[in-house]
Amino acid sequence: MYIKTLLIASFLLFLGGNYLTAQEFEYIGAAKCKMCHNKPATGAQYKQWAETKHAKAMESLKGDEVNNPKCLKCHSTAGSVNEDLIATLTVSEGVSCETCHGPGSGYKSNTIMKDRDKALAMGMIMPTEKLCLECHNDQSPHYKGFNYSEYLVQISHPIPPAE
Ligand code: HEC
Ligand code: HEC
Ligand code: HEC
Ligand code: HEC
Repeated sequence: MYIKTLLIASFLLFLGGNYLTAQEFEYIGAAKCKMCHNKPATGAQYKQWAETKHAKAMESLKGDEVNNPKCLKCHSTAGSVNEDLIATLTVSEGVSCETCHGPGSGYKSNTIMKDRDKALAMGMIMPTEKLCLECHNDQSPHYKGFNYSEYLVQISHPIPPAE
């Protein structure tokens, strides 16, 4: 009897675990973020990002390199994530918002975005140095070293303080 209960319990646990992993968020692409994040008054994060090397990372790849998974894993968000989770993200947008902030399908609505805890629960990420180091390391053929605070300034796109 005890064994039977234990078996049922572990089966339910198994189902529960599967249910959780099935709840995965999808990549929607920078154009979707742009709809809300391109107003000068709130920091125009899209424009700020579009001017960085991240947005132009695919332009550095020549010829067959644009199809080489070994280059794409660092030069393109779309080339570095599970294909099944790509909704409207394109390879050409390079290292885009969702590499650093997580797939946006769950947190993209205004009500969720305004509440940091809700956004974090729906897949949003606020990145730290650890994430940068996944690409800024000596596996990159053109590695120039990495200083977090100096590099952070170059890609910064803050929300200006309210007046
Ligand atoms: C429907 C409008 C909307 C869309 C679409 C949207 N956001 Fe937001 N986002 C907001 C609002 C509103 C805030 C809150 C701004 C504030 O706190 O002043 C916000 C805040 C954020 C923050 C800061 C969170 C914090 O707690 O500091 C990040 C990061 C962010 N958005 C990333 C993204 C990314 C990446 C996308 C695209 C995948 C996206 N957003 C799409 C409206 C949107
Ligand atoms: C998915 C991989 C990836 C991640 C994660 C990543 N980067 Fe990058 N980063 C790149 C690539 C690729 C380039 C070069 C793009 C090019 O020139 O083709 C780059 C270039 C840069 C540059 C310009 C360097 C130069 O040579 O002028 C800065 C600054 C930078 N990244 C900062 C950061 C910071 C800060 C983080 C973390 C918050 C970060 N990156 C996370 C891939 C990444
Ligand atoms: C481990 C991640 C990673 C891989 C793999 C990678 N790159 Fe990069 N690449 C970067 C980063 C990060 C930079 C920015 C340079 C820096 O700041 O270190 C960069 C910069 C470049 C640049 C610009 C060079 C310059 O002087 O700024 C070219 C060109 C480039 N990569 C081509 C490639 C090619 C081709 C491949 C595949 C064979 C490749 N990369 C694989 C991360 C990577
Ligand atoms: C290479 C990584 C990277 C990319 C790409 C990136 N961000 Fe960020 N973002 C960050 C980091 C790191 C911070 C937090 C900086 C800090 O420490 O204040 C941040 C902060 C933010 C904030 C909050 C700013 C604040 O002052 O609270 C918003 C909003 C945001 N990002 C939106 C976006 C959008 C939209 C895109 C694409 C158009 C994008 N980010 C692309 C790394 C990135």
